[in-house]
Amino acid sequence: MHLHKYEKIWLVFGIIALAIFLGVVGVSAFSHDHTPAGGMHTIDPEKVNETAPFDKPGVTQIDDDTYQVAIVAMAFGYTAPELKVPAGKEIIFHVTSTDVVHSFTIDNTKVNMMVVPGQITTKSYTFDKPGKYLILCNEYCGTGHHMMFNEIEVY
Ligand code: CUA
Repeated sequence: MHLHKYEKIWLVFGIIALAIFLGVVGVSAFSHDHTPAGGMHTIDPEKVNETAPFDKPGVTQIDDDTYQVAIVAMAFGYTAPELKVPAGKEIIFHVTSTDVVHSFTIDNTKVNMMVVPGQITTKSYTFDKPGKYLILCNEYCGTGHHMMFNEIEVY
C-alpha cells in the first residue's frame, strides 16, 4: 500500500496528538488527588438504616456554630423528619441513597449535589436568610421523580 507523503505526515501528527491528549487526561485524572465532588466516604447501600449518621436521620447540633443534617434519599423521597436549622450557622449535609442516583438540591442556594448509592455526599452550607427552602431531586430517577421533594425551614 502506498501512502502519500502528506498523508503520512498527517497520520503521524494525529497519533502524536492523540497520545498527548490521552496523557493530559490521564495525568490530570490520577495525579491531583481528584475525588468525587461530595467526598470519598462510602457506605453499604444495603445497611444505610443501621449506619451512623443515617440510623437517626435529621438535624443534630454538633457545637454552638455547627449543625449536621443526615438525609437518606430513595425513590421517591427524602427521609428526614422535620428539617429545621438556624440561619448564620454552618450546616453540614450528609446525604446518601439506598437505591439509584438522585440529587439533593436546595432551591436558591449553592447546594446541588449528586447522591449516589454506596457514597456519602457531604456539603457544608450556611443559610443567610430565614425562610422555607424547597429541596428537590434533579436527577431523573424513575416514574415518581417529579414527586421527590421536601422542605427545610431556616429560622
Ligand atoms: Cu430522585 Cu429524581
